[in-house]
Amino acid sequence: MLRTHTCGELRLKNEGEKVTLCGWVHRRRDHGGLIFIDLRDRYGITQIVTGPEDKDAFAMMEKTRPEWVLCVTGTVGKRKEGAARKDNPTGDIEILVSAVTPLNEAKTPPFEIDLEGEINEELRLQYRYLDMRRIKLKDNLVLRHKLLQAVRRFFYDRDFIEVETPILIKGTPEGAREYVVPSRVYHGLFYVLPQSPQQLKQLSMVGGLDRYMQIARCFRDEDLRGDRQPEFTQMDLEMSFVTAEDVMGINEEALISITKEVRPDVKIRSVPFPRMSWEEAMGTYGSDKPDLRFGLEFTDVTDLSKGSGFGIFAKTAEGGGVVKALRVPEGAALSRKDIDELTETAKVYGAKGLAWIKSAKRGYEGVPVDKLGADLTKKMAEKAGMKDGDILFFTADTFEVACLSLGAVRSDIAKRKKLADPNVFAFAWITDFPMFEIEKETGELQAMHHPFTRPKDADLPLLEKEPLKVKAEAYDIVLNGYEIGGGSVRIHERALQKQIFDILKVSDEDAERRFGHMLKAFEYGAPPHGGIAWGLDRMAMLYAGEPNIREVIAFPKDQKGKDLLLGAPSVIPEKQLKELGVKIMKA
Ligand code: AMO
Repeated sequence: MLRTHTCGELRLKNEGEKVTLCGWVHRRRDHGGLIFIDLRDRYGITQIVTGPEDKDAFAMMEKTRPEWVLCVTGTVGKRKEGAARKDNPTGDIEILVSAVTPLNEAKTPPFEIDLEGEINEELRLQYRYLDMRRIKLKDNLVLRHKLLQAVRRFFYDRDFIEVETPILIKGTPEGAREYVVPSRVYHGLFYVLPQSPQQLKQLSMVGGLDRYMQIARCFRDEDLRGDRQPEFTQMDLEMSFVTAEDVMGINEEALISITKEVRPDVKIRSVPFPRMSWEEAMGTYGSDKPDLRFGLEFTDVTDLSKGSGFGIFAKTAEGGGVVKALRVPEGAALSRKDIDELTETAKVYGAKGLAWIKSAKRGYEGVPVDKLGADLTKKMAEKAGMKDGDILFFTADTFEVACLSLGAVRSDIAKRKKLADPNVFAFAWITDFPMFEIEKETGELQAMHHPFTRPKDADLPLLEKEPLKVKAEAYDIVLNGYEIGGGSVRIHERALQKQIFDILKVSDEDAERRFGHMLKAFEYGAPPHGGIAWGLDRMAMLYAGEPNIREVIAFPKDQKGKDLLLGAPSVIPEKQLKELGVKIMKA
């Protein structure tokens, strides 16, 4: 090694030792004839100092600029009285320099590495290697590494084997568009990048591997958000001869153990993790991934709304929709402007409006009050537990629209009132998902999880006639308002798998072409099996307390799917296109 120690290592106990450090010039200060440099590497920052008596070292230190790479030799000294820095683990010592060798010079960086504050994200992505020198991103990457280590250790210790599955495959449906790779050898044929290793892990169960896990790369060409990247990492797991309870049980144990290891400072809100059905989560919190760090639970006032004088409530309730109420303690203080903004929030999810009733000294106020009448208003307010100074918000619509819209209002209010404690981790299992949902654009049935999910045995008789009533043996794991994982018990019988494809209107020909390998494998003694996948980027984001997953990915794509560092996607030479048999269509 070119160095004897790292820049984070030396303490008072090393006083008097001759050492050599290598690192980057973090900051340089000239102080009345003394030059101080904060030398930085991955491990920390050490102060080095020289005076004019050592002419060569002084001249060299005077020449250095931020981000030059130095090799420094000197003696560890105790800092003068009052100069020690308690906020730096090496803050009691400094290196009295005897020799400085520049290992490399550096241009002035496009942003200051030593600044903690906000820096334009485009620049940070373009110069990710410089961003990585900043303490925050470096710390996030170290935390992510610890998370991955803890995950692997937990499952390796319990007999799971890590199997690497291929990246060039035939598509596996997870609900997003696929990335495709043209074949050079077979013109007109394409590989598809996996949206997840779903089919391959199931085939490993058919292969008898019994307990599989993989830290797996997945690729989905979908609209990006703060918690979505086009390529991301899953902890993918599959087990044979299990029930949903078994899979949830070992995963719960894993999440508790890993959280204690990676974030020993946070409080896990409740163990065992609360469980609720999809319907309960939606109906009570307006989300299938509710943040349970705070209450703000809905009250159902559908029955009270039937036959009431408030037309929209009555019509919705009588027509099979729902009317949901959200009580915000001390919410009567919300201004007209606040309420207008919250109404806009509700509208994003399809609500036509956001009715409200305030409970003030003078009595109840708000548009519905007169129409509902004093009695009914009071009944609704009492059902919701309303106190003086509270506000009740209402949405009336189909179950999904009413719940999701009011759920968005719930989140918005929690943000405004800072109700979510960042030092609490509220995990929850969401279960009993519908097996199918209606795809908005086509109006066709689609699998809510994926088509390999097993319907609940009790609901099998409903499959043909009332598929929307069928519940799946599926479960999601939720943390602080994010879905961090999802899985299910799978179908392992050919006939049932084929029946699901039929219900999804996958023609025989298509089923054979796309999933023939699965159907065939199920004919050779497939064991009952089930599994789950965690979104590790999302978990790292939450464990690092970051607002988006780009902050915990070394080289992420930007919000439009571009790699600003490498400049991808990019044009490829005509010759390469020809080899691949690909012709670019003019827009
Ligand atoms: P699912 O599609 O729910 O399940 O994905 C599992 C978890 O992966 C994370 N995730 C993402 N993270 C970042 N960017 C994305 N674009 C993205 N998409 C998903 C989420 C999600 O909960 N094969 C099934 C798992 C199974 O059934 O075993 C699957 O992939 O945290």
